[in-house]
Amino acid sequence: MEFDEAVRSRRSVHEYSDEPVDDDTLEAVFERVRYSPSSYNLQPWEFLVLTEDGNRERLQEVAYGQEHVTDAPVAVAVLGNTDPSAHAEAVAEDQLRKGYLPNEEAKEGLLETIEGMAERDEETNRNWATKSTALAGMTLLHAARAEGLATCPVGGFDADALREEFDIDDQYEPVMLVTMGHAAANAQDTNAPRKFRRSVDEIVHREAFEPTAADLDDEVVTESYATQ
Ligand SMILES: Cc1cc2nc3c(=O)[nH]c(=O)nc-3n(C[C@H](O)[C@H](O)[C@H](O)COP(=O)(O)O)c2cc1C
Repeated sequence: MEFDEAVRSRRSVHEYSDEPVDDDTLEAVFERVRYSPSSYNLQPWEFLVLTEDGNRERLQEVAYGQEHVTDAPVAVAVLGNTDPSAHAEAVAEDQLRKGYLPNEEAKEGLLETIEGMAERDEETNRNWATKSTALAGMTLLHAARAEGLATCPVGGFDADALREEFDIDDQYEPVMLVTMGHAAANAQDTNAPRKFRRSVDEIVHREAFEPTAADLDDEVVTESYATQ
């Protein structure tokens, strides 16, 4: 599927068919996810992929009972490693070997910078991990769509309960869940009109930032349906 179609046809889908997602398709999706950008290329993301019924039922519990967590054949917990230094050595060595860094001294300098980041307060590093990991989550949604799959990002879950239920160390920030599978033939989400989107004019500010009023009027909604 072309990128434009993948982006435009992606919906947050809540009803899935019984068809499983085969391992090759899952592999193809995550093969793309790993090309997501990240701060200093430190790639803090980790993905807990759940396909067994019992495990998705456990996940559903921490997601306040949201039904699509078990209805979908795949549910993914997207986690961010809050330790910036976790993969620093491999990243710095790669940059040295490929000429992004001129010499060993520059590599050591980069490692020191990252060590300094690791020493920042916890909230800063949870924030730091969330930014890159959320972008990988977005890649996951688009990569899945490109494979013909439907997804739904899920922010409604209890992060502490998730950590406890799946024995996830506190070092990892649960950023989002993603349900994934083949949309049910009668999935309401895919047949309903495209949800309202704010216009390019409203969201893009050229050269100076002048936010528009957030008020939504009927005219805007009608126009958005007509143009998507
Ligand atoms: C950060 C975030 C959290 C979300 N949390 C939930 C959720 O807990 N449950 C759910 O069903 N959908 C959730 N959604 C999906 C949104 O409701 C959906 O993206 C939005 O309504 C736009 O619809 P669309 O994705 O079909 O275009 C979430 C989306 C995002 C980006």
